[in-house]
Amino acid sequence: MSNTDAEMPAIYPPSPAVLDQAWIKDWRSYAKNANLDPVTYWEGRARELEWSRLWTTVLDDSQAPFYKWFTGARTNIVTNAIDRHLQGPRKNKLALLWESEDGQETRTFSYFSLNREVTTMANVLKALGVRKGDRVTIYLPRIPEVFFAMLACAKIGAVHSVIFAGFSADALTSRIDDSESKVVITSDGSWINGSVFPLKDIVDEAVRFSPTVENVLVVKRTGTKVHMDPLRDHWYHDLTALPIARGTCETVQVDAEDPLFILYTSGSTGKPKAVLHTHGGYMVGTYATLHDTFDIHDEDRFWCTADAGWITGHSYVVYGPLLCGATSFMYEGGPSYPHPDRWWSLIEHFGITTLYTAPTAIRSLMRFGDAWVNRHDLSSLRLLGTVGEPINPEAWRWFYEVVGGSRAPIMDTWWQTETGMFQIAGVPAMPQKPGSAGYPVFGQRAEIVDDKGNPVPDGTEGFLTLLNPWPAMMRTLYNDDQRYLDSYWNVFPGRYATGDSARRDSDGYYWVIGRTDDIIKVSGHRLGTAEIEAAVASATAVAEAAAIGLPHEIKGNAIHVYVVLNPGHEGNRTTVEEIRAHVAAHLSPIAKPDEVVFVESLPKTRSGKIMRRVLRARALGHDEGDLSTLDD
Ligand code: WTA
Repeated sequence: MSNTDAEMPAIYPPSPAVLDQAWIKDWRSYAKNANLDPVTYWEGRARELEWSRLWTTVLDDSQAPFYKWFTGARTNIVTNAIDRHLQGPRKNKLALLWESEDGQETRTFSYFSLNREVTTMANVLKALGVRKGDRVTIYLPRIPEVFFAMLACAKIGAVHSVIFAGFSADALTSRIDDSESKVVITSDGSWINGSVFPLKDIVDEAVRFSPTVENVLVVKRTGTKVHMDPLRDHWYHDLTALPIARGTCETVQVDAEDPLFILYTSGSTGKPKAVLHTHGGYMVGTYATLHDTFDIHDEDRFWCTADAGWITGHSYVVYGPLLCGATSFMYEGGPSYPHPDRWWSLIEHFGITTLYTAPTAIRSLMRFGDAWVNRHDLSSLRLLGTVGEPINPEAWRWFYEVVGGSRAPIMDTWWQTETGMFQIAGVPAMPQKPGSAGYPVFGQRAEIVDDKGNPVPDGTEGFLTLLNPWPAMMRTLYNDDQRYLDSYWNVFPGRYATGDSARRDSDGYYWVIGRTDDIIKVSGHRLGTAEIEAAVASATAVAEAAAIGLPHEIKGNAIHVYVVLNPGHEGNRTTVEEIRAHVAAHLSPIAKPDEVVFVESLPKTRSGKIMRRVLRARALGHDEGDLSTLDD
């Protein structure tokens, strides 16, 4: 298939065609200007959007690291994602194109009709008593209603909390409770490779004892039979038929710093982090970065394959594309159902120009061979992108040559739920190095430091830190300012600690290596060892568990758990399957351990902390390092 790494060019300069089309051609001087004065740079980008009142201060750092952006300004992300496009020719442009998993259904929405749908959903939410500042949990599959729900919340100033519709009831309960959501928006079920995943049943279980949820809104998708609580549950299509759903709905003008959404993500403890983003800065950041890195043109059809349940879906499926007035494509299913060319056929059929996906998907599709790709005309593709984990040279090359026909540059984008927008990413005019995300985005500075926070020389691995505040940065962890300080700002004072290790080469390109904490990226999904361990340990057979990530050819990392059994339980195949099923049911199928190893005891420090590092070293056959703190 591919040649060895050694035969790959180390650097891919932009072709004349790419340069010709690029918005930003002279990226060096562009970057220089932005970096000379990032605040003025961001002010200029903010001026490309609409505000009902302008800011008094662009960046208020008086309470750093609780930074505020565009203080005093009023807007709404929906004013810019939808309303402003209705004033001009984009009114009739496609905002959203969607295809069902079975390929039997296509739904298309112009900006005009998207506005109608969002308005309807917003009216329904208002009728259910949702007010500005209220939290709404969204637990939906990849269907257009996830757009409507997110945008409807934003339109009325409510705060959405989207939970990936692959999380189990326990995970859903804790997130609903933490956010104190009033309403949950879900569907009867979702389609997964031809079968139904019972979303409504999971919601029923999750909200049974909820002290806050008053209403559950149910979108009909799979036609599955579900239980409807007459006082709590409403079919969405029933409510949209009522007069309450009709008429216009004002896009409320909110303070730039008013919250837009909470998104839960894994941290180092069992309790997920509730990352909080706001209207103004997030809007400017996602708009500018998508526009520049993916060089959005009016004729583009942009496909980011992420689920709206992750930050990539928030920033670059829903908000970013609409803020840019682009056409966003959403596909309900996964990459290889019913055939390994499902994605390629969609690209051909819809004329997708930009494909933004995760290395794990590329590796899994590469496995099926080139023929599946080659039977489709993918000449519409002009740009490719990756996110979520480092891309290995072999996958990079396959993506570039076989999928992109050696025409389309690959934009490797490094960022996080917390950063809201790209932090290290190129623009098409920049020469690309396979495996490197390139330079910090315009207006950003990054530095690699040692464990004391001192910058290390180029070529040396260290901790990746960010130096400048940026508009789409998280504002805090919801209801937990202290954890926000401790996790990100107190690690290396004066710097944002990313939790990643990286090195910079002599050309200034950044090479992200991986997490340095107890977070594992599995198929690009972010999971915490502590939450996996808690799920494993809640199985009846299990006394204690430790989870680690070990390299995996396709998924990037695989989850290995070490289990001490309760007396009377046997470490056999059945127990392994029970434990795997238990994790799928109590956390998520994406967290299912790849390997379950039964042990007599776990390596621990004298204070009782599990030494995962020792387990990892043993599994990889590496030196176990300093064992002086190990309890006997
Ligand atoms: C990893 C996803 C290498 C990294 C947007 C980061 C990457 C974590 C890249 C955040 C990339 C993301 N190259 N590693 N291009 N992009 N990562 O919050 O470890 O789900 O800290 O956000 O993914 O994961 P999260």
